[in-house]
Order: sequence, then C-alpha cells, then structure tokens
Amino acid sequence: MSATKDLTTEAAGVTPAAAAVEPVLDVDGVTLQYKTKEHLITATYRVSFQTYPADRFVILGPSGCGKSTLLKGIAGYLHPVEGEMRLKGNVIKDPGPDRCMVFQEFDQLLPWKTVMGNITFALLNGGKCETQAEAREIAYEYIRKVKLDRFEDTFPHMLSGGMKQRVAIARAMAMEPDVLLMDEPFAALDALTRRQMQEELLQLWDDTRFTVIFVTHSIEEAVIVGSRILIMSPHPGQVKAEVNAHLHTHDDVGGEDFRALQGRIHDMIFADRVLEEETQPQHV
Ligand SMILES: Nc1ncnc2c1ncn2[C@@H]1O[C@H](COP(=O)(O)OP(=O)(O)OP(=O)(O)O)[C@@H](O)[C@H]1O
Ligand SMILES: [Mg+2]
Repeated sequence: MSATKDLTTEAAGVTPAAAAVEPVLDVDGVTLQYKTKEHLITATYRVSFQTYPADRFVILGPSGCGKSTLLKGIAGYLHPVEGEMRLKGNVIKDPGPDRCMVFQEFDQLLPWKTVMGNITFALLNGGKCETQAEAREIAYEYIRKVKLDRFEDTFPHMLSGGMKQRVAIARAMAMEPDVLLMDEPFAALDALTRRQMQEELLQLWDDTRFTVIFVTHSIEEAVIVGSRILIMSPHPGQVKAEVNAHLHTHDDVGGEDFRALQGRIHDMIFADRVLEEETQPQHV
C-alpha cells in the first residue's frame, strides 16, 4: 500500500514538537484482539503513534475500526498481543489514575452522588486527595471550569446530557491525568450542544494545556478539536496517515482551507474503499 505509506510519510514532517520532546504516550506496533468462544477478532493491527505534551490528538476512523479498543488498551483494560504501549516510558500493564476516560454515554456518573460527590469520590478513591476538604476544593475548581458552579449539589438525573458530559469531563480533568481519553464524548448530543461543548473543550485546553486523545468518526469534529489527527483504516484498524490540524477552529468551518483539509481527509479514509469498489466485477 504505497499510497498509505506516502501519506504517512508526508505527515511525519508536520510535527515539529516531536523531534524535541519525549512523547507522553508511545503506541508501538500494537495489535489488539478479542477472543470469543468461536472467533478471534483482530480489532487493531500494528498501530503506532506518539502523543506529545498538550497534544489534542484525534483518532478518526469508520465504525468498527478499533478506536474504542485502542482507548481500552491505553487505559490498561486490554493487553496487546503484539507491540507495546508506554506512558512516560513505562509499559502500560493495568488501569491507573494517570489515564482518565470520558465516554459517550450520559450514564457514566454515579446516580446516587451529586455533581460535587461524583468528583470528590474519584479524587479520594483515585488517591489524588486524602481529605474531603482538599477533594472539595479541587472539585470546585473544575466544576467552575466547566461552568456548573450553580449545580454542585445537583444529582445526575436532574442534569441535561451536555451537563452530564461536563461533569464527566470535570471529574476526569480534576484527576490531572497524564493523558485524558475521550471516546466520542459529544456524539450523543444535539448539534448545537455538541458545537458548544467542542468550543468549551478548546477553551479548557487553552486554560490548562492538558494532553487529550479524542476519538471521533466525524471529520469536521476531528478538524475542529484536533491539533493532530490519526486516520485509521476500516476493520481491522491500521494507521493510514497522520495530519496536522492545529490551525482550524469553528470560525473556519466552511472556509476554503477547512474544506480542503476535510476533503483531503475524506479521500484518505475512502481511497482504498473506492479502489476496491472499482475493481469489483459489475453485475447487471
Ligand atoms: N467486547 C468485544 N468482544 C468481541 N469483539 C469486540 C468487542 N468489542 C469490540 N469488538 C470488535 O472489535 C472491532 C473494533 O471495535 P471498536 O468498538 O473498537 O470500534 P470503534 O472504532 O470504536 O467503532 P465505533 O465508531 O462504532 O464506536 C469491531 O469489529 C468489534 O466488533
Ligand atoms: Mg467506539
């Protein structure tokens, strides 16, 4: 697949930070599989990439290409059958508070705890804080950051989907993980809330410059949220290319450069599929 190699090589020159700094996360030739009674499913095949401090690193690919599986691997819930994942140089073996995950589902909060309670529970149980007072202070700082300061004593069932996702983001960020893992966190939101949440996430990032790996299958979302985008092929997921996107925001949507990048990414995702279709025998 020389086209794939060319695209990856082209992108390799666009990460100036890469040469100077050590990666926070190094995913090195990772194959992840699921074993069921009847099947062995290869979800990702020899995937490699590096994430650097303050990257907004987006993993983009079609449904079933192994994006969530990769995040599960990074989180330490799944072990590679080939290759290695290293966080700050240490091989990932188990889950740990140095990696926090935000999921797509709205029901990821503890329903019997308030907004404040959800965050302090994570801080105390994740070993980040020793006392309730310390946990509340940190929790409040992040509740404010996600603009929920009037809702700290509210229970999850009284919050909208977007508000629940803000709590999940605040809870993950309060742990100050080395890398924040976000698996399509805005996918279940309506278009307006989704856009607002993307903007808020970028503002938060401006504020604290955390390192985030953000999974999506929306090209537009990838270009808005990402500083770098890893493009994956359909099942089993392999790396097709990596591109820079740090210059684009909501203000650019529809603009010439934005559309050109979207088009380029679209072509990279669908290039092989189009070729396959063209070579299929024609039935009449
Ligand atoms: N628990 C599991 N057991 C067996 N196979 C699984 C399991 N979870 C995922 N898979 C398979 O692994 C492959 C990758 O799945 P994964 O959920 O990582 O894809 P994805 O890129 O996140 O897709 P989506 O965009 O739909 O969320 C798919 O073929 C899927 O069927
Ligand atoms: Mg998924």
